[in-house]
Amino acid sequence: MSANEKRQAGEAAIRYVEDGAIIGVGTGSTVAFFIDALADLKDRIQGAVSSSEQSTAHLKRLGIPVLDLNATGALTLYVDGADECDTHKRLIKGGGAALTREKIIAEASQKFVCIIDSTKQVKLLGKFPLPIEVIPMARSLGGREIVKRGGQPVWRDGVVTDNGNWVIDVHGWQITDPVGLESDLNQIPGVVAVGLFARRAADVVLVGDKVM
Ligand code: A5P
Repeated sequence: MSANEKRQAGEAAIRYVEDGAIIGVGTGSTVAFFIDALADLKDRIQGAVSSSEQSTAHLKRLGIPVLDLNATGALTLYVDGADECDTHKRLIKGGGAALTREKIIAEASQKFVCIIDSTKQVKLLGKFPLPIEVIPMARSLGGREIVKRGGQPVWRDGVVTDNGNWVIDVHGWQITDPVGLESDLNQIPGVVAVGLFARRAADVVLVGDKVM
């Protein structure tokens, strides 16, 4: 059921792709369906900006040019999955440890289309542990700051992000003020990115092939 909805969402996002565009591409199993569908249109787009080495490899394997965001400038469309999505289209992301590049591309894009299956829909964000990417030296400091804020930090031991950093997953938060928490956590020295996408939420959410 969930895999079927992921495929439906990935394929439905194709309707937002315009001829000649450069497409921001996220990371994960739902996006993998989008990339597969995008390959059919590869002669009608300029290429993609990728949020991870994993998606880059997939795009290149299918012959879709991968471009540098510094060269492309702002994008019209970003398509990515999420780990949780609330009714305001605010998200938790980073289950695949790609949150920093995902956040950069989301910010650089006019329209963020988020593709999920229905298991990702929540009333309150936080059941899914919140990923935070930190510079390795700041792991302990970051952990203490999270504890001060009532969270339970768990180091994702053995995972190194594409940027050479580490991930802390925070358990136990019921996130009633996602924008406030995102801004607060961003102030901790050594935090590279917070997996809350609340300041820049999604513009469109596709749950399977239905617009939320
Ligand atoms: C990657 O870091 C995440 O933000 C993904 O977008 C998220 O984990 C969704 O992944 P799936 O599409 O595999 O569920």
